[in-house]
Amino acid sequence: MPGIADKTDITVEINFDVAAFRSGLLEWFDKNARRLPWRSEKNWYVVLLSEFMLQQTQVEQALPYYKKFIAQYPDINKLARADEQDILRLWAGLGYYSRARNLLKTAKILKDQYNSRFPGDYNQVIKLPGIGKYTASAILSIAFQKPLPVVDGNVIRVLTRLFAIDKDIRNNKVINSLTGLAQQLLDNRQPGNHNEAMMEIGALICKVKNPVCNICPLFDFCAAGKGNNWYNFPFKSSPVSKRILRELAYIFSDNNHLVLAQRPAKGLLASMWECPSVILADEETIEGKLKKLFLADTPDDNYVISPLFRHSYSHILLHYQAIHINSAIENYCSKDHWQRDYQKLENIPFGEISNYPIHTAHMKLINWFLKTKSQR
Ligand code: ADE
Repeated sequence: MPGIADKTDITVEINFDVAAFRSGLLEWFDKNARRLPWRSEKNWYVVLLSEFMLQQTQVEQALPYYKKFIAQYPDINKLARADEQDILRLWAGLGYYSRARNLLKTAKILKDQYNSRFPGDYNQVIKLPGIGKYTASAILSIAFQKPLPVVDGNVIRVLTRLFAIDKDIRNNKVINSLTGLAQQLLDNRQPGNHNEAMMEIGALICKVKNPVCNICPLFDFCAAGKGNNWYNFPFKSSPVSKRILRELAYIFSDNNHLVLAQRPAKGLLASMWECPSVILADEETIEGKLKKLFLADTPDDNYVISPLFRHSYSHILLHYQAIHINSAIENYCSKDHWQRDYQKLENIPFGEISNYPIHTAHMKLINWFLKTKSQR
């Protein structure tokens, strides 16, 4: 409606010395940046890999995965020739597995269509699988010194505090406005270092809960720091509640083997491995499900049910339990037993479990099983 300010409108004037802001930030970064492997050797391949891993993931968590990965796939050509299952295995535990599949697809495109180089053009870059605005700007600025601002969760926190912006960061228009601000602040002579410095300030100084404003190089420029009300920023409205999905997983195991299944090639956790499982309807009990599904009678006293586990995905909250059945799968389940269209079912010796890319939720079940089985 004309005349009425949009809830998402941000009209922010930068009323401080931007040159002083930039130089304070870069000096601090020079002295205090963490020595990270992708920072010491700055070629685009290490930046590509690290930025894929750092999407939705903190540096400390990504670091061991990065080291394993770069040791096995030190360059784009090696990665482009990799097998998807090997990549997923290296990624297992890090979550958001579509990143791993997209990284591999991007590597193949770079090798086949770009002669194993990285395109310098933003519009080409954002067409690559798994590379959105944020990752494109990060790679192009850090590896190629293109003057593009990076706005991730850390930078959003820094910017909303610097300018005391209380608009809802769940709203894309707000993020676009913050990107505009970041562009104005960006040091075009060193855009890569500037962007990394902003992210680093967010990670080390302008922390979510206990920001250390007293040693912040940006304190003199920061409205929330000076107002001592950093806790009001950023503002994020409550999430839409996640759908609960109930699942029953089967651990078919004698004393040496375990049945694992490979999920469908599309959808949640595509191509990852897990204990074969079925979905429970809202009110359905495990006992009810077992009666319906088993070829033979409900497994006798030969089974144990795990405690309830929970795992959170971006839109789904998974509530799941496992049933351990000390018998061969053929005794109980018909081939079309599984609601999921599994690509494969294999009976795997315990010693080989770690060769399979098993997603985190079910790795917890397997660990529960391996830990408790000797007590039975
Ligand atoms: N998060 C994403 N990319 C990053 C980087 N290059 N440095 C620090 N944190 C990051």
